[in-house]
Amino acid sequence: VARPVGENRYELTQRVGRVEIIPGTTTEVWGFDGVFPGPTLELRSGVQTTVRVRNQLPVPTSTHLHGGVTPPESDGYPTDVVVAEGRGFRPPRGMHGGGHDTSVWTFHPGAKDYVYPVGQRAATLWYHDHRMDFTAPQVWRGLAGFALVRDDEDDALPLPKGERDIPLLICDRAFEEDGSFRYPSLDPSLLVRPGVEEAFMEGVQGDVILVNGAPWPVLEVDTARYRLRLLNASNARRYRLELTGGVRFTQVGSDQGLLAEPVEHSSLVIAPGERFDVVVDFSEHAPGSEVTMVNTLGEGRTRNVMRFRVRSRVRDDSRIPRRLSDVPPADRAAAVTRRVFDFRLTRGGSGEMWTINGVPYRPGTPLAEPRLGTTEVWRFTSDFHHPVHVHLAHFQVLSRGKGGPAATDAGWKDTVDVRPYEVVDVLVRFDGFRGRYMLHCHNLEHEDMAMMADFQVV
Ligand code: C2O
Ligand code: CU
Ligand code: CU
Repeated sequence: VARPVGENRYELTQRVGRVEIIPGTTTEVWGFDGVFPGPTLELRSGVQTTVRVRNQLPVPTSTHLHGGVTPPESDGYPTDVVVAEGRGFRPPRGMHGGGHDTSVWTFHPGAKDYVYPVGQRAATLWYHDHRMDFTAPQVWRGLAGFALVRDDEDDALPLPKGERDIPLLICDRAFEEDGSFRYPSLDPSLLVRPGVEEAFMEGVQGDVILVNGAPWPVLEVDTARYRLRLLNASNARRYRLELTGGVRFTQVGSDQGLLAEPVEHSSLVIAPGERFDVVVDFSEHAPGSEVTMVNTLGEGRTRNVMRFRVRSRVRDDSRIPRRLSDVPPADRAAAVTRRVFDFRLTRGGSGEMWTINGVPYRPGTPLAEPRLGTTEVWRFTSDFHHPVHVHLAHFQVLSRGKGGPAATDAGWKDTVDVRPYEVVDVLVRFDGFRGRYMLHCHNLEHEDMAMMADFQVV
């Protein structure tokens, strides 16, 4: 947990750290405060909070609060970067074969203050690096952590609390023999070299699953309910999470906080960037027994997520109310405009590229100009698995293909798993701020390979 440095002020220093992930070895991480995951930020709804991010890494960074309703200058725009003190910065040229307009770059020597008004309901958010073209390798090396927004409504519910409210950051990594992270390459020029490109096209996956930075960890639990805030912070891997022994997930929240009512799942598919807030009940389990959480889309090591070891029998006062919150049903008729965003592979002059509507990302060139205070229908179409994420604006899923939303689509979301050749309609509400934001694929290699677009809230 991050410790405030003043009233509603935090400081995080991005630096190289050394941690033990694989027992007996040392892994060098690029972490907020040198740790991975970074310290958890505790935010309060309605309380503006400033986070000073100091960069001491050898690379530029941009920090984004994922799910935050944040003014554009603090949203972690990819070309709005912080560079370590004493390091020069030259806007790069020629990425994606197109070249960037150098006027879209801003850089902050040493540090930048990110101001978060937090005018939003309780939700499990996270923060991570968002640097142009390099988000994937920089997050892989460790630049990610939780940011929990709390409010009175959520606090007042009889859900499990305190020790029994546990954020779980799930991601996969690959390791070299000596314990260091293995990433296919940190050199962007390799992105367009045949052969090496293959490793990136589908996104980079590791063969070890980590939960809060540890492989196959054990959590000691009481015979009680636990609230688990599941985050898929992987670059590209999707999981289908299941608990052994017939234990179910009772979902109480989504990306953007409480659902109207709980939803039961025997398995949960979670795509990169998504969060599921679930309650798991261990009260029927004898002390000494174990429940494991597995990924049934994986095999061998990528099947193992984590273990819960039941320790003592306790009295549990928590419960799951039938009504959780007011979530207005999504009303398609409220939309003032409809837009289509087609997530697909495009063949161009410099080879294959992941694009939106056939165009690679161009910072400063918005594909849409929604009006503040309005609601639109956005249709996402896709040729592959693309977890689509929208900055600033939250949405509700209206339909998948000809069907309604999936059980996992309930509530307010900011990221939706769009499956191959699927058409997903969402109702997006533009609230909060005017200015420049992005939507993109949250497969981070896809994002870096240009599957991103600006939109301008006017
Ligand atoms: Cu979690 Cu624009 O990203
Ligand atoms: Cu985001
Ligand atoms: Cu994608």
